Amino acid sequence: MCGIVGYVGMRNAPDVLLEGLKRLEYRGYDSAGMAVRSAGRLEVIKEVGKVADLERLVAERQLEGSQGIGHTRWATHGGVSVDNAHPHCDDCGNFVLVHNGIIENYMDLREELEASGVQFCSETDTEVIVQLLARLYRGDMLEALLKLIEKLRGSYALAIMNREIEDTFYCLRKGSPLVLGVADGEGFCASDVPALLPYTRQVAYLEEGEIAAVSKGLLQVWTSEGVAVEKAISIIDWDISMTEKAAYPHFMLKEIHEQGAVLRTTLKGRVENGRVDLSSELGWDPELVGSWKKLHIVACGTSFYAALVAERVLEKWTDLEVKVDIASEYRYRHSRADADTLGVFVSQSGETADTLAAQRLARSQGAHCLAVTNVRGSTLAREVHDVLLLKAGPEIGVAATKTFMGQIAALYLLALYLGRMRETLTAAEENRLLDEILRLPYKVEVTLEREESIRELAGKYADRKDFLFLGRGISFPIALEGALKLKEISYVHAEAYAAGEMKHGPIALLEPAVPVMTIIPRDGLYEKTLSNIQEAKARRSPILALATDGDDLITKHASAVIRVPWTDEDLTPFLTVVPLQLFAYHMAKLRGCEIDQPRNLAKSVTVE
Ligand code: F6R
Repeated sequence: MCGIVGYVGMRNAPDVLLEGLKRLEYRGYDSAGMAVRSAGRLEVIKEVGKVADLERLVAERQLEGSQGIGHTRWATHGGVSVDNAHPHCDDCGNFVLVHNGIIENYMDLREELEASGVQFCSETDTEVIVQLLARLYRGDMLEALLKLIEKLRGSYALAIMNREIEDTFYCLRKGSPLVLGVADGEGFCASDVPALLPYTRQVAYLEEGEIAAVSKGLLQVWTSEGVAVEKAISIIDWDISMTEKAAYPHFMLKEIHEQGAVLRTTLKGRVENGRVDLSSELGWDPELVGSWKKLHIVACGTSFYAALVAERVLEKWTDLEVKVDIASEYRYRHSRADADTLGVFVSQSGETADTLAAQRLARSQGAHCLAVTNVRGSTLAREVHDVLLLKAGPEIGVAATKTFMGQIAALYLLALYLGRMRETLTAAEENRLLDEILRLPYKVEVTLEREESIRELAGKYADRKDFLFLGRGISFPIALEGALKLKEISYVHAEAYAAGEMKHGPIALLEPAVPVMTIIPRDGLYEKTLSNIQEAKARRSPILALATDGDDLITKHASAVIRVPWTDEDLTPFLTVVPLQLFAYHMAKLRGCEIDQPRNLAKSVTVE
């Protein structure tokens, strides 16, 4: 949600900022801007639209300089306009800054500033910060920033330039992500690592409340009390090719096709001799694991659906009382985590504001907290007791696909590991399941090879306005995920229901114009779901069935059948999700939608 980037060094800053903003555009794309130090002045350029629109303007103005900050916006306070786009300046043009986050007390601060005669140019909460900073500054930047922190309530990642101070820009963070980068004679900051990858892999993560001064080849950091801290430099193990589309027309399609590989890397080194071994990552002793009675899994969006899939196997393979919740609900209810609770927080980015808040709540109540995330240095990963990494590589498409695959794989490994440590799953059963889990990467790839038939099916239904998705048991969260993918990238209305719930209301929606996508793998609930198909068919809805190879019966009942290879009934989500991702992708493509950057969405939801 909003991407920020900063640079100082020997390269042309506008080029570095534009490259960084393109790589952060998944965070917001309704307007973009940059400020560059040029001949002693702070030049600001901003434009409504995409980073490409800003790029044209930068070229027209022939903007050059060796220091700058940039921003790509996802509007919160103030509509989409040039005035509201970042960077924002104080009224004397001495300070300029970019912001990701929300200042909660901005109305009070704005009123105070207006009362003292300050004139505002925008409706944003961000302009309040820069006007305030200009009035707090008395020649010492650190002192002014410490005073600023005291006044601001809310969340922020900020990159700031002061006209008086050459070759250094400043950063602050509280509640929104910010990573610093360093290379020989160069300094960087960005909301996320992919923006830095073309230039450096040496990064340092700012902690809550920290302040940084970024200069050429040098990072200085202080706590929110002004105490200098030595920052450890981490080396990023992602490489730049992982952040490029290769021959694919969209990141989403590339990421869907990477899912076999994602499964292999997520399983690698964690399965040995027919057993799951997470001891080097989690280091849990049997006494700790035996002390847990409850398991709370908390997440948002697609990550929440991954948690719902895992809930089914955790209930089956362990004796824990499992509860799964949406983070924005969990954080405000009386959830009662305690020392008997293992809290599992699932987040691709590790930066989702509600998931972070839910984790802090559970931890304060005494729970042992585990992050299941794709981003090693993310806020979530740094705040929990333990981390289970997805190893999916960077996901750039706004719609989550390969990270869902990585999440369910990591959560299944966790379920097997807990089952073994709590002695609720036999070694023979674990062995049998792992045998089949190790075949899944290949079966995912077989499913992907059937893309053409899914594209044809999307061609037949691309004009429909409403879809119903149905599934039972472990296929219900897959119905939810399939419907979410369709909604978010093709803007087609789709509802997902547990198949048994259809009669309790949604059946009223059914008519020939409303196709029913039913996830019906060959499992213990097959016949029940088949009855639901009959009910929908009787209302003359076209039935699109997602079924198992070799299931001949289904062809008699469905208008169209998409097939996946057979797998164990507990593992079907690994395969059934794939055609639904492809279906949403091709529907969106046929409808001419912006697949990698759907309207109104941002990949990382860093505000509440
Ligand atoms: C959907 C999607 C979102 C995210 C959600 C949580 O395709 O990407 O629903 O799953 O915003 O994000 P993370 O997993 O980063 O916490």
